[in-house]
Amino acid sequence: MAVERTLSIVKPDAVAKNVIGKIYSRFEDAGLRIVAARMVQLSRPEAEGFYAVHKERPFFNDLVEFMISGPVMVQVLEGENAIAKNRELMGATDPKKAEKGTIRADFADSIDANAVHGSDAPETAAVEIAYFFPSMQICVR
Ligand code: PPS
Repeated sequence: MAVERTLSIVKPDAVAKNVIGKIYSRFEDAGLRIVAARMVQLSRPEAEGFYAVHKERPFFNDLVEFMISGPVMVQVLEGENAIAKNRELMGATDPKKAEKGTIRADFADSIDANAVHGSDAPETAAVEIAYFFPSMQICVR
């Protein structure tokens, strides 16, 4: 299986709940390594840029508003099959539909405030990682 990198965000609701460490444990227990991390208060243009692919969707403004409502913790996760593994750990977008034991089932309140983001494919992972981290800020083992 290929070693991949994926972009993960602990969203404002989970940062406010003080569960960054608990979420990081989920990544580490699943064999994913945090190879870059920073806390960021996104500006509106930064959030709009990150979610530009969703700009025509009806929830775009709500999503941007939520993502700028407080600081987020952004990290690059590395490991075998990291993209799919992180999506599995996150659970479904809507926490009501997320499987028991997933991050969203345990820490998210609603489809708007759903605790975490994770890249959905290798191409998006590359773009999203570069959005937050110059390559020199990512640790190479
Ligand atoms: S996903 O995760 O991309 O497969 O999910 P998707 O359903 O395509 O949603 C894309 C992102 O939009 C968020 N979202 C919403 N935000 C606010 N309100 C509503 N109703 C809503 N529906 C979806 C969802 O959390 C995804 O955000 P990210 O950060 O990519 O997980």
